[in-house]
Amino acid sequence: MSAVVVIGTQWGDEGKGKVVDYLAEQADVVVRYQGGNNAGHTVVVGDKEFKLQLLPSGILYKGKTCILGNGVVVDPAVVLREIKGMQDKGIDTSSLRISNRAHVIMPYHRLLDEVEEIARGDKKIGTTKNGIGPCYMDKNSRTGIRMVDLMDKEEFSEKLKYNLAAKNKLFKAVYGVEGFDYETVLNEYLGYAEKLREHVVDTSALLHEKLKAGKRALFEGAQATMLDLDHGTYPFVTSSNPAGGACVGAGVGPSQISKVVGVVKAYTTRVGEGPFPTELLDDVGEYIRKAGHEFGTVTGRARRCGWLDACVVRYAGYVGGIDYMAITRLDILDKVETLKICVGYKYKGALLSEFPASLKVLAAVEPVYEELPGWQETTSHIRKYEDLPQNARRYLERLSEVSGIAIGIVSVGPGRDQTIVLADMF
Ligand code: GDP
Ligand code: IMO
Ligand code: MG
Repeated sequence: MSAVVVIGTQWGDEGKGKVVDYLAEQADVVVRYQGGNNAGHTVVVGDKEFKLQLLPSGILYKGKTCILGNGVVVDPAVVLREIKGMQDKGIDTSSLRISNRAHVIMPYHRLLDEVEEIARGDKKIGTTKNGIGPCYMDKNSRTGIRMVDLMDKEEFSEKLKYNLAAKNKLFKAVYGVEGFDYETVLNEYLGYAEKLREHVVDTSALLHEKLKAGKRALFEGAQATMLDLDHGTYPFVTSSNPAGGACVGAGVGPSQISKVVGVVKAYTTRVGEGPFPTELLDDVGEYIRKAGHEFGTVTGRARRCGWLDACVVRYAGYVGGIDYMAITRLDILDKVETLKICVGYKYKGALLSEFPASLKVLAAVEPVYEELPGWQETTSHIRKYEDLPQNARRYLERLSEVSGIAIGIVSVGPGRDQTIVLADMF
């Protein structure tokens, strides 16, 4: 039995899609377990670039079972659009299975996401406005609509009526906006139901069967530890658990997980609001944004850029139980003369021993930096760890020392082959 979990260690966009696509070659099943179409995972295969929001990154291989687990929130229109997009590119999507327990994103979730953000004013989170938070809100308040309900016309009609009445009242009374027409939403979603029916099953039962038969499973995290509802920079987080959610969101027990891989970008980026101790608001930050094309896949927003923060990675390491780091985008730093790694936080003159829970504290910490010389050489063609420039190895090894996590993979480009492997994951 072999099940590998891939999670982001920073604020998302670390290159999880690339790492999952790389490891998927050795897997039989690839599972998304949380989040929804707030994710944007880019995978490059040869000269083709694929942008995936909901479909697991394993979809690009033939013959892999791809699962959207119970912990995912599914926008039916988006998943159908992605399926169509893949089919147009000649990718077979017949192996896609969607959990009958996954919650469905409704139009009122998207509108709520928008009006709530406006109402927050300068305290806005900077969400993707895809209805993710409001859908998880309904799940937690036990009024949500699941895939199994959508597949049952009677059940769905009843649940929609109840939910829509409550939401329309809220839109009118609190936000002063127009709500939704019952018949219109009902017909739209019953149409989706017919198109998705062939994909909807009990995915935990399916996964259980596969694992029992000795198949290899790969769990694809979306977002990242710093955006985790429990462990991230709350409230500037997403509404699911990227760090530890694989078991709950896929329907397997902790004893099934054999390894956890934490994806670390060689520097740090963040989209949306919230504290970011190593943020660079100067020319270096601008250089990294340009060199790394750091603009969001989902919303197109410019990503905030900063130095590598080993405090964040160390913290992600223990809350996520990370065995190995997959360090990506090393090549983006090829030309930077001097690099900095944050190895500690000072608050009111004293070193903090733990990652602060208080955002007030996190916003006020002073990063303790170590300066390391850059390597000023191209790395994107390198395939062996020992062939990396000495200063690049020094940079990676210092991160490993401070974070306490071993290096498993180093990525030097978006392509499948631009990958240096130091340890087997399966
Ligand atoms: P994800 O959300 O964690 O999957 O990351 P994104 O796909 O949003 O952003 C990562 C971007 O970096 C994508 O465009 C990848 O194709 C690209 N990428 C991944 N690894 C590397 C790498 O090692 N070097 C370079 N230059 N690009 C990479
Ligand atoms: P991947 O999987 C980067 C951020 C949003 C916002 C916050 C809450 O591509 O790494 P939400 O719409 O989830 O309620 O927004 O989380 N966010 C991401 N940032 N990468 C992502 O996904 C993200 N998914 C959500 O920008 O700050
Ligand atoms: Mg992304």
